Amino acid sequence: MAIFLDSSKIEEVKKYHHMGIIRGVTTNPTILLKEGVTGGMAGVKARLVEIAKLVNPYPVSCEVTTNDHDGMLAQAKDIASWAPNINVKITIHGPNGELDNLSVVHELETKHNIRVNVTAMMSAQQCFLAAMAGATYVSILTGRVNNMGYDSTADIKILRSLLDAHKLKAQIITASTREVLNVIQWLHAGAHIVTAQPQFLDGMIVHPYSKETVKMFLDDAAKAK
Ligand code: E4P
Repeated sequence: MAIFLDSSKIEEVKKYHHMGIIRGVTTNPTILLKEGVTGGMAGVKARLVEIAKLVNPYPVSCEVTTNDHDGMLAQAKDIASWAPNINVKITIHGPNGELDNLSVVHELETKHNIRVNVTAMMSAQQCFLAAMAGATYVSILTGRVNNMGYDSTADIKILRSLLDAHKLKAQIITASTREVLNVIQWLHAGAHIVTAQPQFLDGMIVHPYSKETVKMFLDDAAKAK
């Protein structure tokens, strides 16, 4: 899977999808708000359905906007019905540590065949339990972990070895990318997927010495005409 785009902008999704370098898209309510999506769930649905069509069959994550048990279940079922490649993001627990969420994840994955991306996680132990609950994706916000002064690569390595050893299906998504280097660094540490904002993908491609070299080739080709 390797790289997902962390964006809900249609032009950005088109751009990187057409380059062939992304294998999915992640969104969250903050990204949608920042990128101008309004109109409540109807507005979110319109944007997500458009993205899902563009990148089909690659997966697209859409987060629930409630933390109430029944509300999460109902919203998740609705979101998953929008397109076959849309999966549902649910946070590991509520804003005050409420513990309803993993039972919702378990029910969606095992009873309703709905793929869930458990998010807002900061440690291998959270991700391991989300994987045990049946999550298809476990999102660890490694950039935020690094910002707190911890080395997230250690947790990525531990988590990957545990998922493999226990034959759990969950795929690790590392998120909150903060530097160009994070993408290769986290994949090398064991992440199945890194979700990155556009500027980090551009930063991976463009190198000053490559620019100079390309310029040399083009200049010399022009001289030889
Ligand atoms: C993606 O799944 C996450 O929601 C996202 O990467 C979080 O990014 P942030 O920490 O920059 O808000």
